[in-house]
Amino acid sequence: MVFKDLPRDALIRPLTRNEVVGLLLRLTIFGAATYYSIKWVVDAMDPTSARKKQAMKRAEQMMKRIGVEGVKLTEYEMNIASHLVDPLSMKVTWRDIAGLDEVIDELQNTVILPFQKRHLLAGSKLFQPPKGVLLFGPPGCGKTMIAKATAKASGCKFINLQASTLTDMWYGESQKLTAAVFSLADKIQPCIIFIDEIESFLRNRSSLDHEATAMMKAQFMSLWDGLDTSSTTQVMVMGATNRPQDMDPAILRRMPATFHIGLPSTRQRHEILKLILAGENLSNAINMKEIADKTGGYSGSDLKELCRDAAIYRVRDYVRKEQMRSIALQLDDGLEEERPVDEERLRPITQLDLLFGLDKMNESKKATTLMLPSVAEVPLD
Ligand SMILES: Nc1ncnc2c1ncn2[C@@H]1O[C@H](COP(=O)(O)OP(=O)(O)O)[C@@H](O)[C@H]1O
Ligand SMILES: [Mg+2]
Repeated sequence: MVFKDLPRDALIRPLTRNEVVGLLLRLTIFGAATYYSIKWVVDAMDPTSARKKQAMKRAEQMMKRIGVEGVKLTEYEMNIASHLVDPLSMKVTWRDIAGLDEVIDELQNTVILPFQKRHLLAGSKLFQPPKGVLLFGPPGCGKTMIAKATAKASGCKFINLQASTLTDMWYGESQKLTAAVFSLADKIQPCIIFIDEIESFLRNRSSLDHEATAMMKAQFMSLWDGLDTSSTTQVMVMGATNRPQDMDPAILRRMPATFHIGLPSTRQRHEILKLILAGENLSNAINMKEIADKTGGYSGSDLKELCRDAAIYRVRDYVRKEQMRSIALQLDDGLEEERPVDEERLRPITQLDLLFGLDKMNESKKATTLMLPSVAEVPLD
């Protein structure tokens, strides 16, 4: 192909200078074309290529939004950067969390203050945010909310890391991605690396672990330890878990600041109910204390579900009444006026609604507890 256009006798006599240059030129073009076609084919065959491109685009937008510009990122850091949380979308503040004032106070002092007032003691190794913070307790009690509010209050960048992000299918990629988590956090610090359900990611090491998984864990820990080397590094790993007993003790040791977020007490449930129902149209006869007393063992998210149910009953009543009215109108003179649904005409939420909601929740809780033993029989691993 490359030799096709040469004069017939070209191969039996010495080539002229022009012919050599022409030949070289064609060889180069041919080589380049071959290189790019092979690269294109390989790229097209790589199933992660589209995902990578998407991640890169998202990462660039995100870096701009969090106000970090002019920082060069590697391909792996870009991948991690696409998991940064947009500061504008971080809406959870302390005011959205009820009944956990003590935990919040403690977090303010140990975690947020060192981030915010770093300049006061720039040289001190003691006045530093802890390298690891663990929030633990039953599900639905506000751990994820607290993590988000902490990021917002401390003004830190927030990487929401999922285990699946690191367990890449290509061997060796996991380790590069793990390294990228820490190098990216270092570049954009102050930064919180948040790992929800951390036990699924850094669970007890066992001989059953895949070799790559075990290596990734070991590497994660050594990079984490590496954070200590500089007193100015402001990077923190924050984990949340429902099952602290499943966690690797080596990880627990690296999280000196632990916060137990337990099931709410009666007083706390009362406060959560007040917060959830604030701004709703409530009947004067509402007695939240009664509901708080009757909901022992409920989590914050159970209470929210209960209130959501309670708020629906009046809408159902409203729709039913509207239907009755329209039937009555049709029977009267065959004319029906179209009227917009306005919330004003909805009746307020009553104590009875809340008690109905409570009954319904109790029923479904009973049903799930009955199901639990059969679930527990299935081995978790
Ligand atoms: N203390 C609380 N105050 C207000 N709402 C709460 C509280 N605890 C839980 N909730 C409600 O429950 C939902 C789930 O909370 P979440 O933080 O995701 O729980 P966890 O991470 O502990 O499983 C929240 O979105 C919120 O609506
Ligand atoms: Mg959670």
